[in-house]
Amino acid sequence: MHYFNYQGNELYCEDVPVERIAAEVGTPFYLYSASTIVRHYNVFTEAFADVDHLVCYSVKANSNLAVLKMLADLGAGADIVSGGELFRALRAGISPDKIVFSGVGKRDEEIRFALESGILMFNVESTSELSALSRIAKDMGSTAPVALRVNPDVDPETHPYISTGMKENKFGIPVTEALSIYLQAAKMDHIQVVGADCHIGSQLTSSAPFGEAVTKLMELVSDLDREGMEIKYIDVGGGLGIIYGEEAPPLPSDYADTILDAVGGTDKTLIFEPGRVIVGNAGILVTRVIYNKKTAEKNFIIVDAAMNDLIRPSLYDAYQEVRPVFRTEREEIVADVVGPVCESTDYLARDHSMPAVEEGELLAVMSSGAYGFSMSSQYNSRPRAAEIMVRDKRFEVVRNRETFDDLVKGERVFNG
Ligand code: LLP
Repeated sequence: MHYFNYQGNELYCEDVPVERIAAEVGTPFYLYSASTIVRHYNVFTEAFADVDHLVCYSVKANSNLAVLKMLADLGAGADIVSGGELFRALRAGISPDKIVFSGVGKRDEEIRFALESGILMFNVESTSELSALSRIAKDMGSTAPVALRVNPDVDPETHPYISTGMKENKFGIPVTEALSIYLQAAKMDHIQVVGADCHIGSQLTSSAPFGEAVTKLMELVSDLDREGMEIKYIDVGGGLGIIYGEEAPPLPSDYADTILDAVGGTDKTLIFEPGRVIVGNAGILVTRVIYNKKTAEKNFIIVDAAMNDLIRPSLYDAYQEVRPVFRTEREEIVADVVGPVCESTDYLARDHSMPAVEEGELLAVMSSGAYGFSMSSQYNSRPRAAEIMVRDKRFEVVRNRETFDDLVKGERVFNG
């Protein structure tokens, strides 16, 4: 569900014509629908209305301050993976006692920053990290609240690059070793065991792997209860998939049924770390056709957005639909939509069935709200795109397009 629709033959974001924004801010730009974000958040949290829970939005999916502030106002917490994400979350007004810190490589200064900020818990991924936490908390005269991130060895049936809960992945503590590490943690000074956590992957389109993972996590939680550990939080991660094309992911309500079945009734607080399902379909990337180029092999539509703006198609061979902003009757062709970057892997769509578009025309790359701008770069010295937010009839620039000066900010010539 999203609020990008054609009114007549023209694509709108809520009540604003996409063309009007393009005329004002130029292309390419990311365009977000505030009402879609709010709706997705509400549908997700309402699916768990009957249980004590906290939704910690996964900041990496889209870390723009306007997005974070909107979610903060709705009561969301944050799942962060770096000091930079903590900085953003706090800047946006997300309460520190709703922030969980995940990731395999937390550095000392990041741990210190999180302890100073008073975050809810660290999702710990190794015994070395546990020792670092204990050492730094002692140094600061404080105590680190922790959950162990358990690797349940469950196949999430998603792209191998975004699968995280199988035993060959770098993430988490093998479920078979978790109990003994919990027992060590419980004895450590300056460590307070408060939760148990898992996250098995992203863009999952079936519920079964979630059920399997949470069942394994709950077996561990029963053992921990038996050992007298005070587990308050059960963090089941994120990963719920969205529709890019033909997928049929579970609805949040079906996902909730699976999770709640596996949890089987508890007095603990459930924590969720959704990213994509909140923002993925709430954003598009708007780009303009520079040239049409036809070879003996292919139709190439060369546009002004590229892999530096949206890397998902190049990196994961991900499918994202490309549509013209103005819909008219015309011939359908099969084309590669490519950018100006000097790499053959620079494409936004490959062998895509779409209308034969004209030079100068606007196109929308759908479902670009998650892992779009947040994974963008300046490769080929291309200033990063602007980000725009719409609500109802109004739009605002929520991140300026970068300038050439931004490209060289902080650089200087070597005088040695
Ligand atoms: N929690 C943890 C610990 C994570 O690592 C992730 C995503 C999430 C939550 C949120 O997952 P989501 O609900 O968004 O699926 N760049 C890739 C996706 C990478 C996901 C990384 N971790 C893509 O564009 O498909």
